[in-house]
Amino acid sequence: MRRMLLLCGVCFISLLSAAQYQPKDYSNLLGMNGFGDDLLKMHFQLYQGYVKNTNLLLDTLKEMDTSTYAFTALKRRLGWEMDGMRLHELYFENLGGKGVLDSKFSLYQKIVAEFGSYDAWKKDFIAVGLTRGIGWVIMYQDPQSGKLINMWINEHDVGHLAGGKPLLVMDVFEHAYITQYGLAKQQYIDAFFQNINWDVVTKR
Ligand SMILES: [Fe+2]
Repeated sequence: MRRMLLLCGVCFISLLSAAQYQPKDYSNLLGMNGFGDDLLKMHFQLYQGYVKNTNLLLDTLKEMDTSTYAFTALKRRLGWEMDGMRLHELYFENLGGKGVLDSKFSLYQKIVAEFGSYDAWKKDFIAVGLTRGIGWVIMYQDPQSGKLINMWINEHDVGHLAGGKPLLVMDVFEHAYITQYGLAKQQYIDAFFQNINWDVVTKR
């Protein structure tokens, strides 16, 4: 009996180590105002690619000779793929709402305390979103000071706040809007704001 328990324990550990990330289903977002279904479906497919490549990279790295150049080159790539996966999840999960941050939420009060008003914070967030380039805008909370900071993330992996908690995440890669809005990034950002799920954001 003891031996069986031991064997089951070993099986469980090996199952855990072989666990792969599974793509999440965001089809509940289809039909959202300002986001065409074709755009969203394409975006979901792109996200699934990040999950697939994260799994592939993790498995490949495990088998590699760590003394090789290829190992270190792929290790650099891991941050890009893995952040690409996780940021898309945070992005899709903070959509599908009504876009209204109720003033009774402590997050609203925190925003006002730090930026002077919700509109001032929004202006700052949008300005970051209009940065020339491809990447993300994240409203981070610094756990040490509690400060809220809107940050520009270049591509997926450059510019993150170490230890920071990502509260609101907006994709500003061209694929997030260009097939629907062309170069009118501001219109896409307006659509994003109309659909923010602030319940999710405040829980973060
Ligand atoms: Fe994206």
